[in-house]
Amino acid sequence: MKPILRPLLLLGLLFTPLAWADAPTRATHPDGAAIASGHQLATQAGMEILAQGGNAFDAAVAVSSTLAVVEPISSGLGGGGFFLLHDAASGKDIMLDARETAPAAATEAAFLDKDGNLDRDRSVNGAWSAGIPGLPAALVELSGKHGKLPLKSSLQPAIRIAREGFPVYARMAKGYQSRREVMERYAGTREVYLRNGKPIAEGDLFRQPELARTLERLADGGFDGFYRGQTGKLLLAGVKQAGGRWTADELAGYTVKARAPIVFNYNDWKITTAPPPSSGGIALASMLQILEGWDIKSMDAAHRTHLVVEAMRRAYRDRTFFLGDPDFVDIPQNVLTSKDYAQGLRATIHPEKATPSDLLSGNPTPLEDDETTHFSIIDQEGNRVGATQTVNLLYGSGLIPKGTGVLLNNEMDDFALKPGTPNAFGVMGYEANAPKAGKRMLSSMTPTFMENADKVVVLGTPGGSRIITMVLLGILGYDQGLGAQQVAALPRYHHQWLPDVIEAESGAFDEGTIKQLQAMGHRIDLPGDSAAGGRGSSHVWGNLQTVEWDRRSNTLSGGSDPRNPVGSAEVR
Ligand code: DON
Repeated sequence: MKPILRPLLLLGLLFTPLAWADAPTRATHPDGAAIASGHQLATQAGMEILAQGGNAFDAAVAVSSTLAVVEPISSGLGGGGFFLLHDAASGKDIMLDARETAPAAATEAAFLDKDGNLDRDRSVNGAWSAGIPGLPAALVELSGKHGKLPLKSSLQPAIRIAREGFPVYARMAKGYQSRREVMERYAGTREVYLRNGKPIAEGDLFRQPELARTLERLADGGFDGFYRGQTGKLLLAGVKQAGGRWTADELAGYTVKARAPIVFNYNDWKITTAPPPSSGGIALASMLQILEGWDIKSMDAAHRTHLVVEAMRRAYRDRTFFLGDPDFVDIPQNVLTSKDYAQGLRATIHPEKATPSDLLSGNPTPLEDDETTHFSIIDQEGNRVGATQTVNLLYGSGLIPKGTGVLLNNEMDDFALKPGTPNAFGVMGYEANAPKAGKRMLSSMTPTFMENADKVVVLGTPGGSRIITMVLLGILGYDQGLGAQQVAALPRYHHQWLPDVIEAESGAFDEGTIKQLQAMGHRIDLPGDSAAGGRGSSHVWGNLQTVEWDRRSNTLSGGSDPRNPVGSAEVR
């Protein structure tokens, strides 16, 4: 030690006990548990498993599998997801990557029509739109490597609800109407969704006995109980019958990957979030570290929004060119998540003027009904799970291979199937996200932890390309001192580089802020005005589910997005 530092250290030691005496005491573990999810039956299923002595990871198996039963519009065994885990005993964080993989037959050429344009029917409907599912493998891994209870126990609530049924809710019935034409192309799907030729309606009891049996085979046989054996055979046969091409080896060769999360600091928060093949963590690191250079909390709404939008614009541009499956492409992750890079980007932002995005080819496809689902859990030991899972668009591909009850995803559309052509969320990509055998398609799903000396937070949401900006606004909300429910309710806005427009929910901005933003050169897609080039009528979005542990008061709270009436947050 340099001699000059010694007296300083002594002085420090003298004063430290005083500082300790003043410091608030902080709980080392929560006094209970909290779960927030997109459906109350799933939240209750998680609570049931905790009551049986399970930990957050067992509860996650119960919540995830129950969502797969009660929210087929959003996620399921035929889809995938990301599970961000915190193990309290070791202090370690990992992300289980259960993203779907591309079958070898699904090359770029397979998705072009005879004129060389993207065949949108193939990319979002039926067998070709489906990747090899990852969710069942994640459930096996979560339970086997992290849980305390047998998989069979944690899957019980889902099996019971699949067999006994649950009441159809409005969003599910409405979603069916908008996907009806596609779903009714397939005999396996018709068997599940039609009763005497009539589709499910709100209030009907919806039973899925075949899905219950598929879940039982998973409970009994683990990985092989889904990816091989009877379920495996039925899946392969159903895909083949619908004109697609999966091989038995591709199905049985699926693997969940445990990946190191993206970790960075924002103000006094440590943020732990989703790494590639999610684009969310890198984009969040970029946006928040750009914003850290300003005191945005003290700014008026227009200037704050302007800077947040400029950060969004830059992060989404980088997403387009650099991000994809890290097992297939070299991502300059260290650069993109560095403070230096963020500082460079910050320097390109004018404090008063919008930077016009460079317009490339194509207009985004409008998408009005967004799906996917997220849940957040903290248990009594301090373990955490933040998981976002999906079949991509409403009811995924629409295809249920006969006899399985499993609705397959349409995640192939998340690849850049034709370079530079926007996907269903209006985002595009190039080589880094081109489809290849066994490759995972780039995602925006961003399960995230935030923690500082006083608080621990788990948050996430569905919403396609808007997921990342919703998580960003959620982090900024917590940083401003809002509580969990306030964060879930926050009005939202979004910019994704292209189209060069701010999309805004009603209530996101007051009149004055709108005028100021327009004067800075921003185009705003406001409720009731789709002319600005945004996604028009889709003016309410997301389904944010978050839990918070305040270590000073040792209280837990949950926030469930008020936009989803069947979601629920519970504390026990
Ligand atoms: O992984 C993704 O980014 C998308 N497949 C998520 C889809 C989604 O959130 C649907 N809309 N809410």
